[in-house]
Amino acid sequence: MDRYAVFGNPIEHSKSPLIHSMFAKQTEQNIEYGRQQPDINGFNDAIAGFFTQGYTGANVTSPFKLDAFRFADELTPRAKAAEAVNTLYKREDGSVLGDNTDGAGLVQDLQRLRGELDGKNLLLIGAGGATRGVILPLLRAQVHNIHIANRTASKAQQLAIMFEKEGAITASGFNDLPETYYDLIVNCTSSSLDGGLPEITSSIFTHASFAYDMTYKARATSFMVWAEKSNVNIKTADGLGMLVGQAAESFYVWRNIRPEIEPVIEAVREML
Ligand code: ATR
Repeated sequence: MDRYAVFGNPIEHSKSPLIHSMFAKQTEQNIEYGRQQPDINGFNDAIAGFFTQGYTGANVTSPFKLDAFRFADELTPRAKAAEAVNTLYKREDGSVLGDNTDGAGLVQDLQRLRGELDGKNLLLIGAGGATRGVILPLLRAQVHNIHIANRTASKAQQLAIMFEKEGAITASGFNDLPETYYDLIVNCTSSSLDGGLPEITSSIFTHASFAYDMTYKARATSFMVWAEKSNVNIKTADGLGMLVGQAAESFYVWRNIRPEIEPVIEAVREML
């Protein structure tokens, strides 16, 4: 039986073991999936030992995504672009492939909720690791334009420069947003975790059809509530579908079979 685990610190609240056991049941795959919590400086030793013991793959979450990026023998283009790895896979020749499925998870969830993304104008709020990880997969989904707005404008501009060869991408601070209409708005900051909001004008929502928060909670996040207050016609969603979507993409990397995410999202939602 192939064995997998998720690595993070802390890790006890991770939903990955639950999600992957549901995928395994749904697709009739006989796998084991556990959790591992190395010391903050102990990722390398832990993951090397893990693969030596015969494990096949790992998911990697905070704070080890950069360690995993450095550990991998080879990287997929989307992991290179993200400069972070959330999926490791030991191949038959013994080498370890590093991948990043976060962006694919977001794209899958947006397509599930909104249909194809081609031709859409997207606004991404925030310019940290979460934003960097999703830009390439969004551009590859044929969006019309991505605008990155960040509290610290220079960080948004750096990201736009990094990806300018890949597609249409612009950047600004919160106070100098271009006067454009956005179809989809994604909050890539973790501001909702403590009920906060990015200090950006609520007029971003006026012509938007959809607002997505990468954070998820048992109830609507502060960002979703704000979007709905600002535009009664707007639809909103939280990031639980992205979490399940990135797990499904990792499962596909390992098992070459794509589980359905909808029933798993519903099951995890009921447990929040
Ligand atoms: P992550 O990997 O989760 O993206 P990160 O790399 O630390 O985390 O980046 C966090 C991002 O969220 C940054 O863009 C940060 O803005 P700054 O670059 O100006 O610091 C943004 N962010 C976090 N909390 C925020 C808040 N309350 N309002 C606005 N932006 C916030």
